[in-house]
Order: sequence, then C-alpha cells, then structure tokens
Amino acid sequence: MTRALGPRASIWASHAAGGWMVLIACWLPIGCLWSLWAAARLAAALTSGQVMPFGVDFALALARGQTSRMWSGTSTILVLALLAVLVAAIGAVVWVVWQRIAARLTLPGDPVAALVERADVRGLAPDATASRAVALRRSLTGRPPADLPRDDIGLVMGDVLKPSGETGATLFSSWEDTVVAFMAPRSGKTTTQSIPHVLSAPGAVIATSNKADLWSAIATVRAAKTGGKTWLWDPQRITYQPQEWWWNPLADLATVEDAHRLAGHFVLTVDDGQKKDLWGPAAQDLLCALLLAAATSDRTMHHIAQWLDEPAVPTPIELLQQAGFHLMASSLKGTQNGAVETRDGIYQTARTAAKCLRDQEILAWVTPQHELPVFAPDAFAASHDTLYLLSKSLSAAAPLIAALTDTAMRAAERRAEQSGGRLDPPMVVVLDEAANICRIADLPQLYSHLGSRGIVPVTILQSYEQGVTVWGEPGMAALWGAATRKLIGAGIDSPRLTRDLATLIGQHDVPIRSITYNEGRASEQISLRRQEILEAADIRALPAGTALLLATGTRPALIQLRPWYRGPHATDINAAIKNADTSITNAARDHHRRRTDLTSDD
Ligand SMILES: Nc1ncnc2c1ncn2[C@@H]1O[C@H](COP(=O)(O)OP(=O)(O)O)[C@@H](O)[C@H]1O
Ligand SMILES: [Mg+2]
Repeated sequence: MTRALGPRASIWASHAAGGWMVLIACWLPIGCLWSLWAAARLAAALTSGQVMPFGVDFALALARGQTSRMWSGTSTILVLALLAVLVAAIGAVVWVVWQRIAARLTLPGDPVAALVERADVRGLAPDATASRAVALRRSLTGRPPADLPRDDIGLVMGDVLKPSGETGATLFSSWEDTVVAFMAPRSGKTTTQSIPHVLSAPGAVIATSNKADLWSAIATVRAAKTGGKTWLWDPQRITYQPQEWWWNPLADLATVEDAHRLAGHFVLTVDDGQKKDLWGPAAQDLLCALLLAAATSDRTMHHIAQWLDEPAVPTPIELLQQAGFHLMASSLKGTQNGAVETRDGIYQTARTAAKCLRDQEILAWVTPQHELPVFAPDAFAASHDTLYLLSKSLSAAAPLIAALTDTAMRAAERRAEQSGGRLDPPMVVVLDEAANICRIADLPQLYSHLGSRGIVPVTILQSYEQGVTVWGEPGMAALWGAATRKLIGAGIDSPRLTRDLATLIGQHDVPIRSITYNEGRASEQISLRRQEILEAADIRALPAGTALLLATGTRPALIQLRPWYRGPHATDINAAIKNADTSITNAARDHHRRRTDLTSDD
C-alpha cells in the first residue's frame, strides 16, 4: 500500500502514536502537580505562608488531602484560584506558540508552499518597482524610491499568498509592463482589476466596460482625486447620462495607412467568420477609400453611411482624385465596376462592419454636434482625464470604441516621442471585456512596444479562446508572448491553457511514505515522487479572489487579488455607487417617460 503521507504525517497515522501516548501519560501528572505547586508558591508569596518543596512528599501529601501541610498559612481557595489563572496563562502561551508553528508547517506536496518557496518576486516588490519608477519617469528623477506614493510606483497586482492563508509582499507591475488577465465572469475582473487600476493611475486613463459599474464606482472619486475631466462615451444609454461631447474619427486622417487602420476596426467586428475571410480585406479597402474621401473633403461619417448604400455613386472617387489619392480612386472605381456579385458581397460586408453608422444615436457621437465640445486626443494624452468607453457586448458601437481607444493611444505615443520616448505620467489603458467591446486589430503588435512608451495596457479577457476568436491563433499567441504580466484568475475552463500553465508552473518532489503489510508486519519506506506543483484541475479550480501571476523573468506566483471594497477608497466608492445608481434610475425614468409621451402624441 502506498500513500502520500510524507515524513510529517499526522502522528495518529504513524507508529509513533503509542510512544507519544506513553510520553504524555508520564509527563501530564507531573506537569499538573508542578502547576499546583507553583500556584501554591505564588499564593504563599502573597500571604507570607509556607510551601512544601516540590517532590514526592508533596505528591503524597496531595494524595492524602493534607492541604494544611502542603501550604501552611495559605488559603486553599486562593491556591486554586491562582492555579486556574496559571493554567489559563500556560494554555494561552502554548496555543499562540502552536499557531505560529502550525502556520510555518506545510503539508508535503502543498502547492502554495512550493510556489512561495520557488517564486522569486523581489523584482515585483514595492522597493524594486519604486526604483524602476524613478528610472522610468523623468518627473520622479532624484526622488528617493522609498518616499514615492504607491500610486506612482505602478499598478498593484496583488499580494503573495502564503500556505497559512496569510498574505505576504504586495506585487506591482511597473510603468513599462504590459498586462493581460484571464478571468471568468463574476470572478473579479471589474472589482480587482479595472476599478483599482483606473483609480490608482497617475495620468490619463482609458477604460472600457460593458456595464455602468466602472463609471458608477469611480468617475467622481477619480475626478476628485486627480482633478481631471471625465469623458463618458455612452451611445447606448447604459448610464442614461446626456451626451456631453463628440469625437471626429476623421480628424487628422490624412494618409492611406491611417484610413486603413480605422477601417480595420470596423471589419474586425464582423462576426460571420466565413464572410469576414471572403470579403473582409476588400471591405476594409472599400471603407478605407470612403473614409479617406470623407476626411480629405471635410465631410462626416454621415456621408460614409450614404455612400455605402449607393454603390454606384461616383462622388467618393471624384473626391479621392481631387485630394490626389489617384490609386485609391482607381481601386474604388474597380470595386464599383466589378462583377455585381463581387461588388454586392464587398459592399454588404462593409455595411455590416459599419452598421453603427446606421444608428442615429451612435452616429450622434461621431458627427458634429455644434453646441458640444469635440474630443481632442492630443490634449487628452497630456492630461489627467479619464475616458470611460461603454458599450453593450458585441454591439454596433464596438468598432468606434476600438477606433477611439486606438486614436487616443496613438496620440499618447506621439506625445511620448516628443517627450524623450516615454509618457510621463504614464497612460493606463484598461480594456475590460476587450474581446466583446474593444477589438483593436493590431493589439498584439501594439503590446510589443506600448510598454516602452509609458503606455500600460491591461487587457482583460474571459478566456484564452475568446482572444483567439478575435485575433486568431497567431495573434493571441503574440499577445500572450508580448504581455510581461499575465494574470490567470478563477474559472479558467480551457483544458489547453490550464495544461500549458501546469507545465509552465513546473514540478516538485513530493515525499511519499509507502507502507507494506506482510504476514501481519508493517514496514515503511519514504521515497520522492516528481509531480506537477499545480495540476490542470487545480488551476481550473482556483478560488475567486486568487490568481496566478506569470511575470517575465520570474517563476509563477500565487497571489491574492485586491478588490476595491477592501481597499482604502471603499467608503468613497460605496457612496459614489449609491449616487450614480440614483442618477441612472432617475435619468432612465425620465428617458422612458419622454419616449412614452412622444409615442402617445403620435
Ligand atoms: N461591494 C462589494 N462587496 C462584496 N462583493 C462584491 C462587491 N461588489 C462586487 N462584489 C462581488 O465580486 C464578484 C466579482 O464581481 P465583478 O468584478 O464585477 O465580476 P466580473 O469579473 O464579471 O467583472 C461578484 O461575485 C460580486 O458579487
Ligand atoms: Mg465586469
């Protein structure tokens, strides 16, 4: 029979149990007798009495009940009371010491202990990350790293989890790291990642969300903390707040490359994979031509929607020619004059990709609204403002969110180039539900250089496969490879990812105690078995609130995440959520009442 009991198996399961019982049986009466004697000595000292010396005579006197001989001149009640106090004090000391020892004792094969022992996370600890921050941010030059506020050091990833369940050092990602996190729904993406990162970011922030929760929780708290402006993009009335600004996707769009990039955001949201493969590239070229024609002739996104509905109209071709884009003009001419089936396939795919332009409410956010200010990406990159981009999952507005995020990130890159290579303070871009609402086509490629520009992307996905559906296998592999901090939280059901992670986490030796029964006699041996520290099933079953952190250059660490409701701003955020919820409820009521009134007037 072989059992993984290990050398520190419970004493009851080992043959040492009998020996321990005899030892305890011998020493327990002596210990009790000594405690009584010590209590008597204490009582005698208080009452100036006499106590027999500790020894056999003392025990015999106790057996005969000769208390007056044992502690002459001292009350027995006082002795018993002091005995009770002494026993309680000894018990308390033993308990505390045992707790301390038990916390350090780990079971053989304990994965948490193995991870703590092996993980070298000094590079992610506050002091090391603070030194990196001083080196990376010009505004911090000369500051002692130890004096930096936490928010200036980097983004908090979580605390090292110890075998006792306690937590150790807090781990950070620095201002040149790029983060990707995988967590199932309701396992803390918003509470442990989006909200804390947005709140702690020292500079401009872009944050996406498919619910009102992020905006409700921190819009006012962050604005009060940084003094920055809140830009809320909510064309689908998730928060029912009025539109306060608009964005011109065509502003500064002057090259074929810019137009192609913008068109790519639209085409990437086509869900029909077959259609996307067949017509996608041509639809992207078509949109590219139309976007360029509109941008170079001071037209708006509204015109693009019209041109998409009229495949034969020559206006965009003429506009491209006037602007000097002759090759684009002839490419568009070729598309318009091609075989009808081909032309319709291309136009139909482009219309699907740009379906947001047929929604008046969405279009209002990207076409001139004369009384409202226009969003300026360059000014935003230099600010402490926050851009909250809200959209329901897989909605028509998604390509515009990707395009706006991309535009703001490129503005930040331009600013970084003009200020010594890095943006300071850094920009934090938290792409929650990225696969559903913010599909930036070349995000995997951006990951390889954003960190070096002082732009810290945090892409949060529900699973690895979700990323594969957006960026394809090679794209997702590139994103995984380029992310310097990978966080794997609860509820990861992908057999492939969990198996790969088990391999990456590595193996350790577990002591195995073998017990052999032979002719009524038992013999035991201890051997070592090499096994995975965490098996795929263990990774799949990680409890909510914990995560594996794979940081470049270190072994994987198990961490306890830090949800906002256990953080320093919990009271402010709770109050903000209450206010925001009331505001959303009132605005929603007004909105529906107005709609009902309009319908009844009709
Ligand atoms: N203020 C709070 N106090 C305690 N638990 C909360 C609080 N807010 C959210 N939670 C819980 O935290 C968990 C994770 O929520 P959330 O981060 O929104 O999930 P998701 O991963 O879908 O973004 C949920 O089970 C939610 O009920
Ligand atoms: Mg969420």
